Amino acid sequence: MAEDLKINANDKAGRYKELIPQIKALTAHEPDSMANMGNVCAALKYTFSFFWVGFYLVKEDELVLSAFQGPVACTRIRKGKGVCGSAWERAEAIIVPDVDAFPGHIACSSLSKSEIVVPLFGEDGSVIGVLDVDSDRLAAFDETDAVYLKEIVGCIRIADH
Ligand code: SME
Repeated sequence: MAEDLKINANDKAGRYKELIPQIKALTAHEPDSMANMGNVCAALKYTFSFFWVGFYLVKEDELVLSAFQGPVACTRIRKGKGVCGSAWERAEAIIVPDVDAFPGHIACSSLSKSEIVVPLFGEDGSVIGVLDVDSDRLAAFDETDAVYLKEIVGCIRIADH
């Protein structure tokens, strides 16, 4: 079976609407979370040309880098630190139009200008990780991204949580 994505829409919501059923088809019958997170990162990066797309997973008292697409990134983030650690602590998505204006932002690359972080929830409702998406443009993310990225992270099940 060919695994290439088919995306035709030119607008952001249209591209997410085409992408989501394809992500569901890719992940629904695959129990391996690393395989699914890898495909989600690739699908998002290549559909939207994002600068960086990746997952951090909660391991003990830190977020630890997991599957990602893009330049090398920091590996460990403490709760409450940076955008990722803040999304974990608040248990909610955070949209950052200008990373330089976010107190405590962790700059893995000086090319990253705006960012969105969406938490992943375990079956008990606790945060088990985050999806972090970075753009090299200012204000690249809005509520449209938040809505669809939340649906996309819902496709990921982490076996040991
Ligand atoms: N900017 C993030 C750190 C992760 S990198 O962007 C890949 C933060 O402030 O949490």
